[in-house]
Amino acid sequence: MSAVHLQSSSQHLSSHQSSSYGAALHVRDVFKIYKEGEIETVALRGANLEIESGEFVAVVGRSGSGKSTLFSLLAGLSEPTAGRIEIDGRDLMSLPELERSALRRDRIGVTFQSGNLLPFLTALENVELPLQLSGKPDVRGRAERLLESVGLKQRLSSRPAQLSGGEQARVALAMALANDPGVLLADEPTGELDTQTAAEIMRMLEELNVERGLTVVVVTHNPALAARAGRVVRITDGALTPERSVNA
Ligand SMILES: Nc1ncnc2c1ncn2[C@@H]1O[C@H](COP(=O)(O)OP(=O)(O)OP(=O)(O)O)[C@@H](O)[C@H]1O
Ligand SMILES: [Mg+2]
Repeated sequence: MSAVHLQSSSQHLSSHQSSSYGAALHVRDVFKIYKEGEIETVALRGANLEIESGEFVAVVGRSGSGKSTLFSLLAGLSEPTAGRIEIDGRDLMSLPELERSALRRDRIGVTFQSGNLLPFLTALENVELPLQLSGKPDVRGRAERLLESVGLKQRLSSRPAQLSGGEQARVALAMALANDPGVLLADEPTGELDTQTAAEIMRMLEELNVERGLTVVVVTHNPALAARAGRVVRITDGALTPERSVNA
């Protein structure tokens, strides 16, 4: 894996070279309350966060603090109980469903805590999926270049079970980047990985951030991972507090 790989992929894949490439995300007074019968869990209580275009932010917090909840709200996959999530200044939930899906597909790339790979598809077929869904031309060629950009040119026809954890994480990254998003959201991208492989994935995220101006938000309980972000925000019991900023 080298910087050259990602650079060449961004030349192939990105037609946006301007500073407006990265997406901005704003969380405004957000509450998320889960209701299961009589039981209510307040997962976020009045969270505020401004992430500017091109930032690399890590969200840290203990297990159960609300990280994945925030993640799914930022990804537009769930609705806040109160408050707003804005991407590039547009309130996600106020958009009609079709527009919201298009915005999600075109601007937001995600990798999930539990992994996004379909076990019965090869690495190549997994990466082809999001490209097919968005109706991109030359799906096969693009998927091959994406996998090449994450250093997996030799593993195109392997299924997830035949790949190491780090390789699977890289396929997931290639999928998240398929539609050339403005923000990459990664929930525990290095969760199950050994230290060295985790550092490799982290380096790739850094390259994407620096070389493409992609906004990167990682959610993690791993302090070593968080330490490499430009800014760290902590969630404690559903509330967000700045932990460290580049200018601090
Ligand atoms: N779908 C749901 N229904 C009910 N409660 C939920 C749901 N999802 C999360 N919760 C609760 O909301 C709180 C926050 O959960 P969340 O998954 O956001 O934590 P997390 O910080 O991502 O934890 P971890 O580090 O273990 O992944 C927890 O108390 C959890 O039990
Ligand atoms: Mg989580």
